[in-house]
Amino acid sequence: MSAGGAFVVRGQFITLEGTEGVGKSTQLANVAETLRSSGLEVVVTREPGGTPMAEAIRDLLLTPRDEPVHEMTELLLMFAARAQHLHTRILPELAAGRWVLCDRFTDATFAYQGGGRGVPAERVALLENLVQGDVRPDHVILLDAPVETGMARARKRGALDRFEQETVAFFERVRHCYRERAALAPERYHIIDAGRPLDVVSAEVSALVRGLVGAG
Ligand SMILES: Nc1ncnc2c1ncn2[C@@H]1O[C@H](COP(=O)(O)OP(=O)(O)O)[C@@H](O)[C@H]1O
Ligand SMILES: [Mg+2]
Repeated sequence: MSAGGAFVVRGQFITLEGTEGVGKSTQLANVAETLRSSGLEVVVTREPGGTPMAEAIRDLLLTPRDEPVHEMTELLLMFAARAQHLHTRILPELAAGRWVLCDRFTDATFAYQGGGRGVPAERVALLENLVQGDVRPDHVILLDAPVETGMARARKRGALDRFEQETVAFFERVRHCYRERAALAPERYHIIDAGRPLDVVSAEVSALVRGLVGAG
């Protein structure tokens, strides 16, 4: 700690991941509430998006269009939005001591553009290193549920975006990729069975987050 007392403990970077409708946005609010009740300052954000420019890129990515979107265009736009969000918002917030909760991050790029679209993981990793250096989420909460369960929930929200219009087979590949990544680093990835009733899932997520706070 510095003699002047200006020492600020960096906040933690926590992301929520999973296929459509598993409950990411719902649990994001729960995680934020749990952290705030522990006295922590919390910033809630999402990807793609999180700054005005990155949200404009989000619109480009999510709007259904007749023109076929090349997988490389999609991949580069994801990382363009991420570069803006990470460097102008997420990193400054963490440095100021706030905890940052993000609805999706680079694991989603490995899962959707990698697993879903078939872009080799090494290409995603190349851009990850270029854009992020060694920055990775401190913890990833993976909400895992059968694809059909999430899609049924998501359909109730109304009009489907460009990703939500994908096939069940696409989302099966996405789910598989998420689970594989989580299995490789169990100290950072926390898999929650999100196919259960909301109160059960919320209680488990809250308990997990209280544990993360306790662990410092
Ligand atoms: N465990 C759950 N059981 C039943 N419904 C849920 C559960 N979790 C979330 N929902 C509902 O499913 C819908 C999709 O949840 P949402 O949080 O928007 O998912 P995501 O952000 O992962 O797409 C919402 O209407 C939400 O209230
Ligand atoms: Mg959501």
